[in-house]
Amino acid sequence: MTALLIRDLAQVVTPATEGAPARGSALGDVTVLEDAFVLCEGGTIATVGRMRDLGSLPEDVREVDGRGRCAVPGLVDCHTHACFAGDRVEEFARRAAGASYEELHAAGGGIMSTVRATRAASPADLERAVGRHRAWMLRAGTTTFESKSGYGLDRETELASLRAIAAAGGIPTWLGAHAVPPEQRDSDAYLDFAIGDVLPEAARLAEAADVFLERGAFDAAQARRYLEACRDAGLVLRLHGDQFTEQGAVQLAIELGARSIDHLESTGPDGVRALADSEVIGVLLPASALFLDRPMPPARALVEAGAAIALATDFNPGSSFCESLPVVCSLAATQLHLGPAEALTACTVNAAAVLGRAERIGRLAPGYAADVVLLDAPDWRYLAYHLGGPVVAEVVLAGEPVELR
Ligand code: NIG
Ligand code: FE
Repeated sequence: MTALLIRDLAQVVTPATEGAPARGSALGDVTVLEDAFVLCEGGTIATVGRMRDLGSLPEDVREVDGRGRCAVPGLVDCHTHACFAGDRVEEFARRAAGASYEELHAAGGGIMSTVRATRAASPADLERAVGRHRAWMLRAGTTTFESKSGYGLDRETELASLRAIAAAGGIPTWLGAHAVPPEQRDSDAYLDFAIGDVLPEAARLAEAADVFLERGAFDAAQARRYLEACRDAGLVLRLHGDQFTEQGAVQLAIELGARSIDHLESTGPDGVRALADSEVIGVLLPASALFLDRPMPPARALVEAGAAIALATDFNPGSSFCESLPVVCSLAATQLHLGPAEALTACTVNAAAVLGRAERIGRLAPGYAADVVLLDAPDWRYLAYHLGGPVVAEVVLAGEPVELR
């Protein structure tokens, strides 16, 4: 593998923290080098520095002209549902006309309509679908992504989903407890099946398990049963919690030592305090709150209280048809009142911490993966400032420039 020098960059910017996840004031602590370079060797960052300090170069170095551009770490999307077939554009139009997400779900639409389409797809179709979504993410600067299953809810489709995610380079999470499919008697019977028949193989394919703890989905006792079984099978634990209502998800996440609790749009002051006193990372999904016209999560309160937070897209066909972390950074700044530096840390090294990879991913520093996003901007804060704009100019993945499709 040849070396790659990205030179003459207007700015090189990285979260300063060495111990992720960053919390409190450390969240907004970024290092900005002006007139700078990034040197990558063997898929890893070798040196970052000012142009005037550029020393001798390895032979065979390839150069990328960084003039007029800023480099930030490749973005990390730690919460997506990228393995699905079909779309929900009809439902989107009905919601625009006043129908609610929860009503559509209760009437057998919503998540279940994507389950029907995903079950009808072949494993090759699912691989193609995740690959397509992966290409969209790369174009938006995402170099590492997690994706959940959860639109199969039968053995074959759940396992095919986890395989399709891994085949597209994603980090698979088994969302075995997303909804109850119609062939199951009730949610307890479904969990018996999921834990007994799917978990043994899912635990070999996935890194983490996730559950939708919500009114109309799974309650706290059911979430506990599912997560304890997944923990015993060696999976990292995550939860969809406090999206519409508080149902004890924060307490359960803390008690079970979950890696993250995601959503938190309904979390009140007690939940904020409890999370801040714990190791659980709060994953905030403002694109999903916007897409469903729901309240935003209490981001500022969480940061001030000292909680660890990350930002993600929640990319999925129903509640967040948005794969762009730059858009999420814009929403973080305008809706969550996070500064651009806090947003950058939250969707790079802190998101990598959610995925257990913060030692290697999410910073521009020697020894980190050479995943770099070049912004078409004179100031890196355009990442959040240029709302919906074509801010990503180039992407480097493991030291190789990527052709953006
Ligand atoms: O994170 N809340 C549950 N699951 C997804 C939505 C899935 C869907 O609507 O298809 C979420 O928002
Ligand atoms: Fe989600």
